[in-house]
Amino acid sequence: MKLKSTGKKWEVDEMSYNKLNENLIDRIGEIVGEEGVIRDRDKMDDFSHDEYPLLDFKSFPDIVVQPRSTEEVSQIVKLAWENSIPITPRGSATGLCGGCVPIYGGIALSLERMDNILEIDEDNLLVTVEAGVKLMDLFKTVEDRELFFPPHPGDESAMVGGAIATNAGGSRAVKYGVMRNFVRGIEVVLPNGDVEWLGTKNVKDTSGYSLVNLFIGSEGTLGVITKAILKITPQPGATMTLVAIYENLEDAIGTVPEIIKKGLSPISIEFIEKEVIPPTEALLGKKWPTSEGEVHLMLIVDARDEDELMQIGEELVDICTANNATDVLVADTKEKQEEILDIRSNIYLALKKDVVEILDITVPPSRIADFVKRVRDLSEKYKIELLTYGHAGDGNVHVHMMKGGEESAYSPLRRELHEMGIEMGGVVSGEHGIGLAKKEFLKMMGEGKIELMRRIKRALDEKNIMNPGKIFDL
Ligand code: LAC
Ligand code: ZN
Repeated sequence: MKLKSTGKKWEVDEMSYNKLNENLIDRIGEIVGEEGVIRDRDKMDDFSHDEYPLLDFKSFPDIVVQPRSTEEVSQIVKLAWENSIPITPRGSATGLCGGCVPIYGGIALSLERMDNILEIDEDNLLVTVEAGVKLMDLFKTVEDRELFFPPHPGDESAMVGGAIATNAGGSRAVKYGVMRNFVRGIEVVLPNGDVEWLGTKNVKDTSGYSLVNLFIGSEGTLGVITKAILKITPQPGATMTLVAIYENLEDAIGTVPEIIKKGLSPISIEFIEKEVIPPTEALLGKKWPTSEGEVHLMLIVDARDEDELMQIGEELVDICTANNATDVLVADTKEKQEEILDIRSNIYLALKKDVVEILDITVPPSRIADFVKRVRDLSEKYKIELLTYGHAGDGNVHVHMMKGGEESAYSPLRRELHEMGIEMGGVVSGEHGIGLAKKEFLKMMGEGKIELMRRIKRALDEKNIMNPGKIFDL
């Protein structure tokens, strides 16, 4: 099975799947109820793509199915397994690599009706949720109890199941880590319809292979995540957001390793080129704290109390100033902090119409300045504008290939960027996943690892019905 970009469209090799017939469609309706089935082509448009921009790739499912419970998911998957029908699980489809696009048609399995928060276990600091819970609802629910769920993959309308399936990262990973660090357990429906709980509420668990970690980041290719036990923390006693203003990129990026080496661990260290701010302000009707300088670092800091916060804040201001920041602004009200994070989180949305592709090549944080400099050199070489911003503290800066240059340059440029990332000890995807978009680049990281993944995939899904054609070709 091969899927390749031909420059203008994606080509998918024929697979020997069965087509849904009226009898199977009736059975699906009996399982999930009439309101859980969509067949109207206009209404299926939302289910034919995610937020990945390159060439506006779309592929329609034959049917959208929206189960209400694990039992219903299990029955639908079993039916797909017995009849060799491809099935593609999806949450809010906020992904950026084509991961939930149903390229072989079949069933798009939307988890959106499984949106219950089942338990908040304040004694163990754990929350158990269904996969269709949106991050924004999880944030709000725990916040009302003075608790905190740290991971913040940009789009808060993303659902928990999708965020786990892609091992999403986001802006708050420097101190707390990514989704993987917050998943204690998951309930999964395997490709044959069997249901298993992987992981438990326990802090320590050496009871066999860590199967929960195998499923985190597997992009729906091994099974459907239906529930999760997630870690939460007490709300920080005090927080502040700093915006450090620089005249040039080198000074801004050069500040990042200095902060990390001091062990200060802000929640976020984000780097933002000035050009990306006005379109985002216009989209949201919100105001970034300054229009001075060329490049900004946004730092979010938390602490147990105001005293500790002030101490860390002062140290950070000193480090930024020592690295030639012309000014450092402090947002200490919750409203202003939320506004800044909101603007930062929506930059991609504001740029999207002018973007050919967003990349998430990630390098060790100490290489970030060198990486961004080399990105600029490639921009000049190929005469394509490459805007950058992102999670500088994680070495995960998003490079945006902007429209306007020669189309024939896209392909060699994206290849060279990924080669460069790998050569610098990086990975081709730090937080968006491989999906369809980066299969050709994942191969550059070593065929041996892909072969191991193929063996796992075949062992769990010998009929290759579960989100086929993603991450690697079988
Ligand atoms: C962000 C998304 C695009 O960092 O990953 O805004
Ligand atoms: Zn990001």
